[in-house]
Amino acid sequence: MVALQGWVNAKRVVGGIVFLEIIPENLVQPVTAVFKKSENRDLWKEAKKVKIGTAVRIEGEYSRVRLSKRGEEFKPTKFEVITPPVDILPIDLTGKTPVLFDTKLKYRYLMLRLPKERAIFKIRARLLKHVRDFLEKNDFLEVHTPKIVGAGAEGGATLFELDYFGRKAFLAQSPQLYKQMLITSIPRVYEITPYFRAEQHHTTRHLNECWGIDVEMGFISSVEDILKLLEELLSSTIEYIRETCKEELEILGVDLKLPRRPFPRLTYDNVIQLLEERGIKVTWGEDLSDREERVLGSIMKEKGYDLYFIVRYPWETKPFYIMRRDGYSESFDLDYKGLEISSGGQREHRYTELLRNIRDKGLDPMDFEFYLEAFKYGMPPHGGFGLGVERLLMKMLDMENIRETIIFTRDIHRLIP
Ligand code: 4AD
Ligand code: MG
Repeated sequence: MVALQGWVNAKRVVGGIVFLEIIPENLVQPVTAVFKKSENRDLWKEAKKVKIGTAVRIEGEYSRVRLSKRGEEFKPTKFEVITPPVDILPIDLTGKTPVLFDTKLKYRYLMLRLPKERAIFKIRARLLKHVRDFLEKNDFLEVHTPKIVGAGAEGGATLFELDYFGRKAFLAQSPQLYKQMLITSIPRVYEITPYFRAEQHHTTRHLNECWGIDVEMGFISSVEDILKLLEELLSSTIEYIRETCKEELEILGVDLKLPRRPFPRLTYDNVIQLLEERGIKVTWGEDLSDREERVLGSIMKEKGYDLYFIVRYPWETKPFYIMRRDGYSESFDLDYKGLEISSGGQREHRYTELLRNIRDKGLDPMDFEFYLEAFKYGMPPHGGFGLGVERLLMKMLDMENIRETIIFTRDIHRLIP
């Protein structure tokens, strides 16, 4: 005997038979319970009057008959209504009528009854579990840093301001400054954390609240140590998802490929040249635009690479904490199929240089005093990265819109639910 709890998703009455598609609480795929009048009249009557959306419990056996690609036949011996719906469901969960994207985001919590939606978030959870395991195995310690902060790290334009008992405060854009401060005592730290970004634009790649995997490592010899770590982390994550989420990938119709290694390390100057060969002129010293990133993605795809680093950006394009070298910086971006999914680099750990960087960026050292002080007491060379969870998932699962990868969206138009 098997007991299932879940929701009635569809009902079909054919002569003396009622087919109920039931979405069980913990399975990805629905099951179809078949109630035959000839076998049990009372059960059949109950099933016939049940409303779509009802939370139910059934007991019975799988009859090992595959009814369709989507379900397995279940022979019920007991049927119990747990909670009937108060209203008609606002969306059609049978897949017969397409759900508008906006409606889907509004009713994400209901959409999650569907195998496709559940698959995305199961993969998301597995991915984060694996990232934690990988980092723990490599001696990184998970830390938590404040999300209400007094100074930004990634530039003022995307800071959400708030009133903190009469003082000006911000929502954290990144744990950047704090994870660096910790390097002076714990040389390997990581945090899986929300980023709050007041991005004004409405694109398929930006959220105003997104999640990052932030890693920082001390006693490094060069930025290459960080590139190696990130390459290893991504390759093992993709391999893990391929192996442990086969059913979910199949439901989503995704053929997740192992990345070709080593990931190329293109310099910023290489990239400009590659783009120029395609007739795209980039002004030296400017960050790549979305279109340029996309064109580079197709150039790299032709060469057989989905994942590639862009290293040695001009210092102008990067934040103050990045180490400077001859007008360039020890920074990098990691792009996946034409989209930046991570930024990182070696940081400036020398107190005097760091102070100079802050001034050269036109910032006030007084605003960063708490941060700067941590560099006075034996700060080792260090580096790290921030890896966007939603962007990574979006590219792994070949999705067009970043909003597909987070349950409740925060964007310029969405504050509720
Ligand atoms: O490139 P970002 O701004 O870099 C940092 O935050 C640095 N502190 C990282 C470091 O360690 N040097 O953000 C890191 C990643 C981006 O590459 C992107 O994947 C994601 O976070 N991200 C966003 N994703 C969605 N919407 C947004 N508005 C995002 N902002 C950043
Ligand atoms: Mg970046």
